[in-house]
Amino acid sequence: MRTQVAIIGAGPAGLLLSHLLHLQGIESVVLESRTRAEIESTIRAGVLEQGTMDLLNDCGVGVRMRAEGALHHGFELAFDGRRHRIDLLGLTGKAITVYAQHEVIKDLVAARDAAGGQMFFGVREVALHGADTDTPAVSFEHGGQALRIDADFIAGCDGFHGIARPAMAQQGRQDYQRIYPFGWFGILVEAPPSAPELIYARHERGFALVSTRSPTVQRMYFQCDPKDSVDNWSDDRIWSELHARLENREGWRVTEGKIFQKNIVGMRSFVSTPMQSGRLFLAGDAAHIVPPTGAKGMNLAVSDVRILARGIEQFYRQGSDERLQRYTGDALKRVWRAEYFSWWMTSMLHTFDDASPFQREVQRAELENVVASRALATALAENYVGAF
Ligand code: APR
Ligand code: PHB
Repeated sequence: MRTQVAIIGAGPAGLLLSHLLHLQGIESVVLESRTRAEIESTIRAGVLEQGTMDLLNDCGVGVRMRAEGALHHGFELAFDGRRHRIDLLGLTGKAITVYAQHEVIKDLVAARDAAGGQMFFGVREVALHGADTDTPAVSFEHGGQALRIDADFIAGCDGFHGIARPAMAQQGRQDYQRIYPFGWFGILVEAPPSAPELIYARHERGFALVSTRSPTVQRMYFQCDPKDSVDNWSDDRIWSELHARLENREGWRVTEGKIFQKNIVGMRSFVSTPMQSGRLFLAGDAAHIVPPTGAKGMNLAVSDVRILARGIEQFYRQGSDERLQRYTGDALKRVWRAEYFSWWMTSMLHTFDDASPFQREVQRAELENVVASRALATALAENYVGAF
């Protein structure tokens, strides 16, 4: 089998890359180790920044996002028993949409299907060959058959635990990492929204976040021990923790409902450079991870593949690899700003067990500064909507 671009991984990065290339008349094949049903139902994050919304709309996959996603013009920072609104629209002219990542996946898979795009689900034993030559290839197993795809390029969009990053030339690689001493306990709840906008709350007991999925399903998180088990958390214990962290002086309370999903995720910041080696290019979580506090993960996957698709397009249109050569530098500019922002939001809002009383007061004062200063609130808002 032959194609122009072999794409490993059907997450937001791989699927969107395949779709963008198709719109430019460039062929690709997507290889995914999980089933279609699995990728279309795995619960992940859900905030699309303005540029992501615009891109999905411009490339024809924004219909359901516009109809079913929740367009938000602001969010709230809660601390010391009060809530403070960050007016995203007023401060930046931009907004965000809360729309689950697996819904984006469904829309992209449907678009690839409708265009006759080739996707192999449930593949095994994926291996890369000749990434440092002009004739790279991918071998894999599908339905008990050994297959091979010869390509011009390979895109490693296979997430943090994928095989593409380890297959990169090791010489000159540098990884940057920070692992946080806490995780997020996430729940899905059958309930109406507790508030019209997202609430990011700092509390001595730990961070909490009130997000949404639909008029009848809500998403909430609270800071926890990353090694804790969901089995230790009864529904009652979860609600009392959320009430304690989110209670406020105006008497507002989070609305309870039936909890139908619980999970714990660890938190890390990670960047692996360079993002390319020969004809192999990494995009999304395969190359970098952000803690979810800045809501940037899916948006970075999207911005990587937007840059990569342009480079590949220039290669075929003009016979030039000038943009492709610049891919790592161009992608990392945005990645590092998002790394900074995600680290900053995480540091400002979470409880650190080893923080001294001085550090705790300075952390609170930082939040006071952000909500008191239009300049600081604007900087936060610009980063949040991705206005850079
Ligand atoms: N072969 C084929 N597919 C693979 C392999 C492999 N060896 N290893 C992993 N995959 C698949 C995974 O099953 C997954 O569906 O690659 C896909 C990678 O998708 P994501 O992890 O969603 O990564 P990405 O597309 O970069 O999107 C980043 O995902 O984790 C969130 O917060 C993150 O929102 C961000 C987004
Ligand atoms: C989510 O709704 O899953 C969500 C929202 C905001 C974040 C992270 C996750 O910062």
